[in-house]
Amino acid sequence: MLERVLSMRRATQFSEEGDDDDEGDESKTKKTSHIAFVTRATNLFSRFGYLWPCLLLCLIILFLIPSLISHSRSIVCVSSYDPTSRLGFFGLDGLESDFGSLGVPWCRSKHGKTVEWTAKDLLKGLEEFVPIYETRPIKNNMYGMGFDHSFGLWFIARWLKPDLMIESGAFKGHSTWVLRQAMPGTPIVSLSPRHPEKYLKKGPAYVDGNCTYFAGKNFVDFGSVDWRVVLKKHGITDLSRVLIFFDDHQNELKRLKQALKAGFRHLVFEDNYDTGTGDHYSLRQICDQFYIRGGGHSCYKDSDEARIRSKRKKFWEKAVDIEELCGPGEAWWGVRGQMRDDFNHSNKAISYAKHFENSRFVESVLNVYWELPPVAGPSLTHQTRYDPARATSPIVEDGRFGLFQRLGLTRFETSVFNGYTQMVYLQISERGS
Ligand SMILES: C[S@@+](CC[C@H](N)C(=O)[O-])C[C@H]1O[C@@H](n2cnc3c(N)ncnc32)[C@H](O)[C@@H]1O
Repeated sequence: MLERVLSMRRATQFSEEGDDDDEGDESKTKKTSHIAFVTRATNLFSRFGYLWPCLLLCLIILFLIPSLISHSRSIVCVSSYDPTSRLGFFGLDGLESDFGSLGVPWCRSKHGKTVEWTAKDLLKGLEEFVPIYETRPIKNNMYGMGFDHSFGLWFIARWLKPDLMIESGAFKGHSTWVLRQAMPGTPIVSLSPRHPEKYLKKGPAYVDGNCTYFAGKNFVDFGSVDWRVVLKKHGITDLSRVLIFFDDHQNELKRLKQALKAGFRHLVFEDNYDTGTGDHYSLRQICDQFYIRGGGHSCYKDSDEARIRSKRKKFWEKAVDIEELCGPGEAWWGVRGQMRDDFNHSNKAISYAKHFENSRFVESVLNVYWELPPVAGPSLTHQTRYDPARATSPIVEDGRFGLFQRLGLTRFETSVFNGYTQMVYLQISERGS
């Protein structure tokens, strides 16, 4: 940015210097042409009298009327959740920049490390994943993952190439299928109270042949599994070769502590809800602090935050306004000062001091915190749920319809893009480092 400003300044400076060089001749030419223009204008004026200024005025009015009509339309008729009117109202930039000063919560890693993959790798991955996703056995995975998170899980698993994949929360088995597409020969362990095969009676489901199910009557919660026994059975000695995927709507602090205790180092959380939303305490909520970009919420009803929130709320179903954000005693952390767990079946109030302590704990064990970007901007996917201002820039940015189409993303129903909730990949630091 600074570079660009400097080079603009330099360009002006150079052209001024150039002018100086030719000053003598050029000023002469300028003066002569100026005199010629005035003479011609005076001649015209005397020939046509006041006719031409009137013609000019008419032309200006003709240009102004359509532009006034189109602007007044976008001011008066903006319908909620309609992507076209949203675009007209905010413009492409406005879709993501309005939260500018508030930013988004972000967990800091200990040494500021980030992931190895780049935006280019993600784009290449998308190209490969689209035809795979088209072959999914469960076409309508309502209450399970949509396109964005399926891609994220597939990409992370394929990049890390683990020796064992563990998932907690299988539902009909779509995420098991995604893991299998990423790593065709790798064993999976799946924990879910209801066995995916049960869903087969009513419609499509996926049951994997190389998966150990702790499901149905064999269900054991992740926190109660004797992982040493399971890992031994699979011949795993290096725990950094295991990928854990949580989609079980449990308090993520609880899950993180359980994973730490077992010694796992690569974790993916599917539902990383934003502050004020969701049915369990999420990493994003935990890291939303007063000193962090996007933290420091105030419950003051006349604040900038309140104004921005109420504006965003009109356009995005999951956006929360200041009334929803703040609970009794102006508690904005978690969900209105509550730490939710187990699909919101458990709901415990926590003090700000405790919440702050949780964030410090999480940051003390993090090597990497990486939120999957949405696959494409909302003007392309027509998603209406998450507020793009609360997410990182999409892989396919708004306005790049050609790329969106080339990738084959236009072939999917818009509903598959509606489930984005900031899926996050965590790399836990080695003990003591
Ligand atoms: C949102 S669904 C998972 C969706 C699935 N991953 C997919 O993408 O299709 C949540 C699942 O977690 C299961 N669940 C509930 N409590 C659980 C627990 N303590 N451990 C593991 N799974 C649990 C539910 O029965 C449900 O199948």
